Amino acid sequence: MYTLVSTHPLCGQSEREVFIAKLVSQMTLEEKVGQMTNLGLTALVEGGFWTDTDSLVLDHGLMATYLSRYGVGSIQGKGVYPPTTGEWQQLTSAIQEFVQKNTRLGIPVLMGIDAIHGAHYTADATIFPHALACGATYNPTLVKKMAQATTSNLKACGIHWNFAPVLDLAWQPLWGRIEETYSAAPFAVATMGTAFTSGAINHGGMAICLKHLAGYSFPYSGKDRSPTYIAPVDLEESFLPPFKAAIAAGAQTIMLNSGSVNGIPGHIDKALIRQVKEEWGFEGFIVSDWDDITKLVEVHRVAKDYKDATRQAVMAGMDMCMVPYDSTFSVALTALVREGAVPMARIDDAVTRILRVKYNIGLFNGTVKDKADMAHRHDSLAYQIALESAVLLKNENGILPLQPRENIVITGPGAHSINAMNGPWSRTWKGTETTYNDTSLSTIAEALKHYGGAHVSFVPGAYYDSLRNIDFQRSFGSADKIIVVVGEAPSTEKNSDIHSLHLSRAQQYFLDSITSLGIPTAIVLLQGRPRIITPWVASIDGIVHGFYPGEMGGRAIADLLYGQANFSGKLPYTYPRHDGTLKGFPYRGSDMLDASFGMDGYPPLFPFGYGLSYTTYTYDSIQCNNRQLYPGQSLLCSVKVTNTGPMPGKEVVQWYLQDEVASVAPYIWRLEGFEKITLPPGDSETVYFTISPEKLKMVNQDKVWVIEPGYFKVGVGPDSKSLRTHRFIYVENPE
Ligand code: BGC
Repeated sequence: MYTLVSTHPLCGQSEREVFIAKLVSQMTLEEKVGQMTNLGLTALVEGGFWTDTDSLVLDHGLMATYLSRYGVGSIQGKGVYPPTTGEWQQLTSAIQEFVQKNTRLGIPVLMGIDAIHGAHYTADATIFPHALACGATYNPTLVKKMAQATTSNLKACGIHWNFAPVLDLAWQPLWGRIEETYSAAPFAVATMGTAFTSGAINHGGMAICLKHLAGYSFPYSGKDRSPTYIAPVDLEESFLPPFKAAIAAGAQTIMLNSGSVNGIPGHIDKALIRQVKEEWGFEGFIVSDWDDITKLVEVHRVAKDYKDATRQAVMAGMDMCMVPYDSTFSVALTALVREGAVPMARIDDAVTRILRVKYNIGLFNGTVKDKADMAHRHDSLAYQIALESAVLLKNENGILPLQPRENIVITGPGAHSINAMNGPWSRTWKGTETTYNDTSLSTIAEALKHYGGAHVSFVPGAYYDSLRNIDFQRSFGSADKIIVVVGEAPSTEKNSDIHSLHLSRAQQYFLDSITSLGIPTAIVLLQGRPRIITPWVASIDGIVHGFYPGEMGGRAIADLLYGQANFSGKLPYTYPRHDGTLKGFPYRGSDMLDASFGMDGYPPLFPFGYGLSYTTYTYDSIQCNNRQLYPGQSLLCSVKVTNTGPMPGKEVVQWYLQDEVASVAPYIWRLEGFEKITLPPGDSETVYFTISPEKLKMVNQDKVWVIEPGYFKVGVGPDSKSLRTHRFIYVENPE
């Protein structure tokens, strides 16, 4: 075991670099390549991969092959079933001890995992709401706390590398992983991403992995890992800033995009990787996504064989390969170096970066044995996030809040299901397995009964993709109100590809049948993406977008539906009205052109930032201290917001900027700031914000960040469509 004095990333850097240089100088080629190799945990256990026989019992023969012979330096993932914290501790300690005893240099293994909404691959940890729900809270403090909680869960397991946060933009509603993103607005993604980063790394001992560099979330067809086309200015101005911000906040690893952007697969995008490492000065390491060297050959067809693909990816700047299950990468890369096709300097650079991260998180100091936090559950925090994330999209004719004595029938495929609340990446990858659910937690139907008792009944009604045989009149006829929980069953990656945003035919028929009964109805949407609900919007009185709210979602949604708590979530993306008009936020002038040559061609069902509550807020007109802005100065603006309704509430005050004329078609509004304020009934608060010239920057046709002098508008309000505005001019050379 190594003993070092300083492990903080910013202290003792030269001491660190000396230590690493010495270690690298002692390493053989095989040991270096081993450090660049990441294997799935199931490569080390008895039994098959992804089968019930996947026991998670470590196989000493396999450990000898991969950890001793190939010197593999990083292990990730789990098997089929989620181990408890105790089981994780045993597994990870056994792996670290094996490496100490059975490798020449005893370099600790970096254990990694996806923990994107809590430590969801640990059987006894709380499952938090997904990132999109976190984005809807507009409350970065909660995201920071969630990252802290997740980190302590992982450290207790002996896991020190989290494949989160996802910094992709929610720009393609068809994409099946949109729930893993925070928002469509780059500013919001950067804010939440840095909150996650600082929360996760605050107490040391954890590396996080920003993913997926870059543009993975915007496939043209909507299908996972299919080609993306991004205008160079959008890449620079919208997709990259969240990564840059999280790196500045201390993120030390990055995962590459498994798809391609403008024809270039993410794993061989030399220019982008060079930009990150050289222009931004990123000192950490870059890891491939799952089996992506193979995909360069078999899917993207940019390499003639695995070895050629390995050479291209490593030379482009990929430092570690998520192989995931065998020695193909090690064999290929070792041969490439021996043949001179990959210089040793590139290998040393990659290994130095990897060891630097291991050093920074304290692995050489034995933190691997740190059983930091044995409090596995963080239910009240998960509840608070679920509560603040639900978005009330419609509430008419007094449908909500529900009253305790009203007869409520709750129905639909998500009404009585923990899996429907947790979504994918929950205990299992797809999140559809019910075996690992904690049945002591409430589904929405169970939680509603807590308030309404015998007045609440649950009728299963429909599956996601098929109907149950029910008599609608008999099942629902006596209800005062009906709550229908629809959406989509958990799915992710290729498994989540769809051909249309419409709800399944079964759910469409189900909603048609329920709404034709003429009984006041509200729908609750549990879904990862905005499925089309337009046909029923006029005939239902209430709509709640619950996203995937996690294990505490039942209680949170019931509290909101019965008015025990107030809604405060706002849409982190645009809710589309039509299946074929999917342009979301932000949008340009030409997105607004319509068929009658007018400017009404941008008709979202609900705009970005939208969300109602049980109370009402009024915004006074915006006040700014100037109509001119000069270099080196800032504009100070404010708005007074008053709670004019009957209930205490939290309001997300949002402010946006508009460049009136620019050399690259400007977005109509860009989100540039937000603040969530708490207001008792009758109270007011004045929210202040400053606009520095930095905020006016845009990327011009030469891909350079500039400020183009001229007129701008700032808009402030409760969503992106209802803004109080102030016009000002930026003057570069005041007379
Ligand atoms: C996903 C990544 C994930 C990795 C490891 C890949 O298929 O795209 O987001 O981190 O698997 O589970």
